[in-house]
Parts: sequence; structure tokens; C-alpha cells
Amino acid sequence: MTDAIGSNGNKKVLKWMSIVGARPQFVKLGPVCRAIDEHNRQAGSQQINHVILHTGQHYDHEVSGLLFSQLGLPEPNYMLSAGSGSAGVQMARMMARMERALSVEKPDWVVVYGDTNSTLVGALLAARMKFPLAHVEAGCRSLDSGMPEEQNRIVADHLSRLLLTPSKSTVENLQKEGIGSGADPHKRRAVAVGDVMYDTLLQNLPLAQKFATEALEGLGFEKGNYYLLTIHRAENTDNPERLRTILQAASSLDLPVLFPVHPRTKHVLQAAKISPNGAVRCVPPLGYLEMLALGGNAKKILTDSGGVQKEAFYLGIPCVTLREQTEWPETVELGANRLGGVSAQSIREAVFGVQNEDWSHATPYGDGKSAQKIVNEIVNASEDKFQSVSH
Ligand code: UD1
Repeated sequence: MTDAIGSNGNKKVLKWMSIVGARPQFVKLGPVCRAIDEHNRQAGSQQINHVILHTGQHYDHEVSGLLFSQLGLPEPNYMLSAGSGSAGVQMARMMARMERALSVEKPDWVVVYGDTNSTLVGALLAARMKFPLAHVEAGCRSLDSGMPEEQNRIVADHLSRLLLTPSKSTVENLQKEGIGSGADPHKRRAVAVGDVMYDTLLQNLPLAQKFATEALEGLGFEKGNYYLLTIHRAENTDNPERLRTILQAASSLDLPVLFPVHPRTKHVLQAAKISPNGAVRCVPPLGYLEMLALGGNAKKILTDSGGVQKEAFYLGIPCVTLREQTEWPETVELGANRLGGVSAQSIREAVFGVQNEDWSHATPYGDGKSAQKIVNEIVNASEDKFQSVSH
């Protein structure tokens, strides 16, 4: 544990290490950095020393550096450059390098985000090295144990002391697994703080809207006259036939389709020699602001991304999820999102079935002030001496 003394009397400076590595984690980190800065500016508050570790899981400019600059994130204190490879090779590189960083920093809290391989490695090491662990976006479940993301989130949740969840239903998911209930022998705390990606969206939407017209004109698209498509999940890309089917369904719709191609998907398209037909316009991955601008003006969004499903909901754009299940059931219950599955027919039916309605009355994922709650929860948990809880 750090023994630094704060400038505000004898309160200990709290050292957190945020562990990120993949695109959606940079999006979640943005509001947390802002909330920490605001917290530190408050007179008499316990100061937080925020150390950022980037595993390097994502390294291409479009999915890493561009997001850091658009979201105004500070340079990471550690860049592990773990890069690509099989899951085992990638995680082994992260693990050896992260262990060294954790040994040097000895943080009071390790904070992991979402469900990627970087989340899993951060959670395992924090637990093994006995650093208290907080998980942002805890409690999501698809109930598909074959998904790498489901495996990662289950492990991270079970090892965390503080589970910061996006909704009530995610708290219930955890309680079903014995986490955070009155009977939890580890006394883990699960609390609904809301979706931190909603904070990010609200903070960046005005800027994104400013250049929406320019972005549309640059692509030759008109507001409401195109679909936006994203595909990157292993379950959809590892089988080229499945990817081919999704692209066939997309190219048979009634409007052009804008398709920012994730690096993973690009590799598969090239290897399997799949070239989408003219109705599907492939472009490099979009920055966060471009994604908001172009997503917010699409007729509908087709995606297998968890984050994009929620962004569609916040932007009021109907969404079709290119999977059999979702971690965001509230969006489906409210009629904002349909599960399209992965057959060409079911995708088309979902696209023509999901309708544009006003869902702004519904706030299942909080009020856009989730990061502030995350900071408060971790500071309070430190004061509660959570350290007495053993793994
Ligand atoms: C990862 C996460 C997923 C998240 C997604 C967001 C896991 C298991 N999955 O998926 O939950 O929704 O990020 O984007 O952690 N690649 C590049 N350049 C890059 C990054 C990746 O070319 O900057 C290629 C590499 O060939 C790599 C492949 O994409 O092997 C897969 O990347 P990986 O980070 O393993 O998973 P994602 O599919 O991006």
C-alpha cells in the first residue's frame, strides 16, 4: 500500500491503477478520469493518484490512439504493448509485464473495466497480489459460457470486492451467483452506479453533433438514409461463413450500409477473400466522435457490440443485435433493440421489425453521472477498511 500523505492534513493519498487495453475500455475511462479530477479539486477531499496502465491489447491508431486523443485521456503511465496473438500468448505477455507494474506501484485499488482479456488479466493479478479490486460494468451476463467475454466477466466479478454495475438487473445477476447478497461470505459490495458509457456519450455528443453534417457529406450519405453496421465478436468472425451470411443480409436491405471494419474483422475478410457488395461501404474503424455523429444519423444500427447497442439506445436509433442474446435486456424489453440472430432471414426480419420510438422516458442505465458515483464508492470503500476482507 502507498504511504504518501495528502496535502489535506494526514489523509492518505489513494493510489488507483486503472487497467485498460481495448477500445470500449478507453470510452469507459474518459468520465472516470474527469470525475477523479473533479474529486481532487474539492477542498478537503481524500486525494486520488490515478495510474493508468494500457495493456496494448489494441494498438492500431484507429482503435487506440485516436480514442485517447478524442476523449482527452492522459497518456498512460504504463504501455505494455502486449499486442496480438492467440489468447494465451496475448494474456501471458500482459501478465508478466503487468505483474512488474503492480509490484512497483502497489496500488490501494486496481480498477478493471468491462470484459476483455485485459480485464481478466488485471483481475487475476490483483487478486493473486492481494490488491483490492473494483470492477466497472460488473454483473453483465449473456449466459453463453463459450464467449470469451462471458468467461472474463465471470472471473472478474467473482474476484472483485467492489462491483460497480450499470443497472438493477446486473446487481440481480450477481446476487444469483451469491455475490453482494446478505449471505455473501466475502462481503463483496455490488452497487448500481449506472452505465459509465452514458456519461461519455453525454459529455461528447455536443462536439460530435457539430461535425455530423461534414461527416455525412464526406461519405455521400444523407441523414436517416443509411444503416450503420459493426461486427467484431469472435463468435461472428471466427466462422467466415457466418460473417458472409451477415454481410449478405446487410447488402440485401433497402438502403446503403456504412460498415466501419474492426481490425479483427478485416483480417478475416482478407483471409477468407470475402468482399462485401456495393451496397455495403467498408471504411476504417471510426473515431468515437465520428461513431456518435454517424450512428446518431443512421436509420437503424446493426451490431454485435455491447457498447454500440447502448449507444444506439441513448441516441434514439433502433438497433438490431447480430447475436442470439444480449447483456442489455432492457433495450430489448423497451422495444429499442431486436435480437437478429445470425441467419439472413432473421436479420432482415429484425431490421424491418424494429421501429423508431421515443425511449427517452426510460433510464435503466442511470443518469449519466455514473463516474462520480464510481469515485465515491471506491473512496468510501477505502474508508470502510474493505482491506479486512480476504479473497
Ligand atoms: C476485444 C474484446 C471484446 C471487445 C473488443 C472491442 C476480448 C476477448 N475481446 O475484441 O470484448 O468488444 O475488443 O473492440 O478481449 N487487431 C488488430 N489491431 C488492433 C487490435 C486487434 O489488428 O489494434 C486484430 C489482431 O489480429 C487481433 C484481433 O484483431 O488478433 C483480435 O483482437 P483482440 O484484442 O484479441 O480482440 P477483439 O476482437 O478486438
